Amino acid sequence: MVEVVFIEPSGNEVTLEATEGWSLMQVATSSGVEGIDAECGGSCACATCHCYAEGEAAANLPPPSEGELAMLDNVAAERRPSSRLSCQIKAAPEIEGLILRVAEVQS
Ligand code: FES
Repeated sequence: MVEVVFIEPSGNEVTLEATEGWSLMQVATSSGVEGIDAECGGSCACATCHCYAEGEAAANLPPPSEGELAMLDNVAAERRPSSRLSCQIKAAPEIEGLILRVAEVQS
């Protein structure tokens, strides 16, 4: 299991134990984390699972794919250097402790 922290748009922090290999969108939505719409179900086709990757573990994230970068052009909230689509991040030991701040709006 991999510990990850989500910060909901309200500022509420939710710490979860993620199963390795699950996308962080799946982890969040299956645990009721607020603010992630995930309209496409994780196909990198909606940009409604937008989060900002924070904390030291963010440096260990694999870089976004071309497809993720293209979809990040469509996010509703401000796009920042830390912007990621949570459906494209898999839980893995190297991201233990990652903080994902959920974007304030998704569409
Ligand atoms: Fe649609 Fe992530 S759930 S892009």
